Amino acid sequence: MPVVSTFCKKGGVGKTTFIGFLGHHYATLGKKVLIISVDDQNSIFKCFGVEDKIFEKNDDYLEFLLAGHVELGDILIEARENLYLIKTLNTDKLSMKLTLERNQEKAVKKMISEYATYFDYILIDFPPSSSRLSEVLLDLSDEILIVVGLDSLGLGGFVNTIQYFIDNDLNMDNIKYIVPNGYSKNRRAPKISLDILMEQAKEFTPKAYVIPALQEKSIIKNLQADGISPFDVTKLPSYDQNQKEILASDLTELFKHINIE
Ligand SMILES: Nc1ncnc2c1ncn2[C@@H]1O[C@H](COP(=O)(O)OP(=O)(O)O)[C@@H](O)[C@H]1O
Ligand SMILES: [Mg+2]
Repeated sequence: MPVVSTFCKKGGVGKTTFIGFLGHHYATLGKKVLIISVDDQNSIFKCFGVEDKIFEKNDDYLEFLLAGHVELGDILIEARENLYLIKTLNTDKLSMKLTLERNQEKAVKKMISEYATYFDYILIDFPPSSSRLSEVLLDLSDEILIVVGLDSLGLGGFVNTIQYFIDNDLNMDNIKYIVPNGYSKNRRAPKISLDILMEQAKEFTPKAYVIPALQEKSIIKNLQADGISPFDVTKLPSYDQNQKEILASDLTELFKHINIE
């Protein structure tokens, strides 16, 4: 069961949004999907309108499982049919433990392999900041998708990400896909950024496939604000409904470029 991660050393580029879309897409196909948030902001919960679950209980965080206080099933939070989320509390503290205690790293590996027997996909949503926990989990990821914002800061984030992999001795061959985000038909800057990204990807990650760019769309922010996923069957007022359906079909087309089994 593949471990799939979205990563980029820059925030606000669409990592959480994209992994939420991908996860829900697989779930609607009947696959059992787990999304682990290792970002203390747990923003993936907002994408599914379940942010109240972040503070509902205080012993169902990833850290409690790794400390051996609760069982695998206790920290799973159902967001949709076939789609479960795991939240984190304090990854800095966890990273500290990982640095100090060798058996904690084993606990992380064991957790992933045990969840892998229950789920068809394990997706990991990373924060942009570096930590020992991120390194360990990136190392365990079979498929890493680097999400890149199509502007000059976004391109800088891509280069920083490559540098981060080199500095931390992470396997660049696990970077299987590059996901350009924020394309716009009417603006020149994203087009130019996409051209530059293609060149850079050819040079730095020749084995990765650059999928077609995700468009900049205001409906994405609007849906997230309401905790609605494009793959939800919820009916919206007609203009939004239209935009939601277009987004869902665009994403389904885009996901045909991603072959993860
Ligand atoms: N293609 C897009 N078009 C419009 N807004 C987007 C798009 N992708 C992401 N966003 C918005 O950008 C913001 C940051 O996205 P997010 O997924 O949280 O980024 P990250 O996880 O990389 O920090 C969110 O408000 C999200 O709704
Ligand atoms: Mg995020």
